[in-house]
Amino acid sequence: MDKHILVVGGAGYIGAHMCKYLSAHGYSPLVLDNLVYGHREAVQWGPLIEGSIENTRLLDEVFSKHDISGVMHFAAYAYVGESVEDPAKYYRNNVAATLNLLEAMVRHRVDRFIFSSSCATYGEPVQIPMAEDHPQFPINPYGRTKLMVEQVLDDFEQAYGLRSVCLRYFNAAGADPDGRLGEDHAPETHLIPLVLQTALGQREKIHIFGDDYDTPDGTCIRDYIHVEDLARAHLAALERLLEGAPGDKFNLGNGEGYSVKAVIDTARRITGKPIPARIDPRRPGDPPSLIGSSQKAMRDLEWKPAYPGLDTIIETAWRWHQRHPGGFGR
Ligand SMILES: NC(=O)c1ccc[n+]([C@@H]2O[C@H](COP(=O)([O-])OP(=O)(O)OC[C@H]3O[C@@H](n4cnc5c(N)ncnc54)[C@H](O)[C@@H]3O)[C@@H](O)[C@H]2O)c1
Repeated sequence: MDKHILVVGGAGYIGAHMCKYLSAHGYSPLVLDNLVYGHREAVQWGPLIEGSIENTRLLDEVFSKHDISGVMHFAAYAYVGESVEDPAKYYRNNVAATLNLLEAMVRHRVDRFIFSSSCATYGEPVQIPMAEDHPQFPINPYGRTKLMVEQVLDDFEQAYGLRSVCLRYFNAAGADPDGRLGEDHAPETHLIPLVLQTALGQREKIHIFGDDYDTPDGTCIRDYIHVEDLARAHLAALERLLEGAPGDKFNLGNGEGYSVKAVIDTARRITGKPIPARIDPRRPGDPPSLIGSSQKAMRDLEWKPAYPGLDTIIETAWRWHQRHPGGFGR
């Protein structure tokens, strides 16, 4: 069995960690990324094909030239606020371009696909922790793009036999324990990198949006999952498909929530820096608590987070931020 895996969006945060993990486990990652957000320096474990999945000719060339056993699809736009202001951009890249990729797979008879879905497909939680059968009523265009692709994938399996696993991540966090990779988004909107950039003095203070929620310390609670734990689940999902299993959908989270204040306090302890914080008004659309149940992935993928604690998540991220204060290549 040839072990070339096409990692679409492999120059981005999670995709780059995936490539390192694939390579360490005997697979050859092949990255396809247009570098709109990704980093050339993050592609260290296989070749980079620079281009967009909107380019049908390029896709046909990639699938004709390489013997590809499966596709992992990380490429998307992922700024919730921007998706509200400019939904067309999101439907075009996250849905239409993904459809282009899937049609190319059908043409070239590549039938194993792992999709980066999101807890954003659920919308407002009606029960905590949220399991895979939680109702899916996304509250923003970003979440809707992810749900649409999930639905397209169901239809593609039915009609064309393209089998896929949708992995609904909660909050991806942490960094490569070796310190070679980490999170470098511009603009950055994720809490842990923002807190650590504040620790480095790159930001004046961290903003806490609301401390009057119905949670133990009044700040929002989120479920953080280490990026290498995500990578491990992807490989387990791919291997199930390689063994012939049908498509499926799994949550990937820690099953435990941490408040914004807990994240900041842990970061203060780990970095030894004061990390100034300011309480600001609540932001619209932020539920008080989002915690996933990953029981199904634990059972069917035999997966378990290796880095469940907030300490390790922040320690690995801090190592990256200290070594690369300006991000990749700097
Ligand atoms: N980071 C999280 O907490 C989180 C949570 C849930 C879901 N997700 C999903 O996981 C995936 C990866 O997230 P990330 O944080 O690594 O994002 P990222 O922005 O770091 O990586 C995405 C990569 O895709 C590339 N890309 C975008 N559009 C492309 C196109 N048309 N053709 C080729 N390449 C393209 C970008 O250049 C970038 O390298 C995304 O689909 C995101 O929606 C992320």
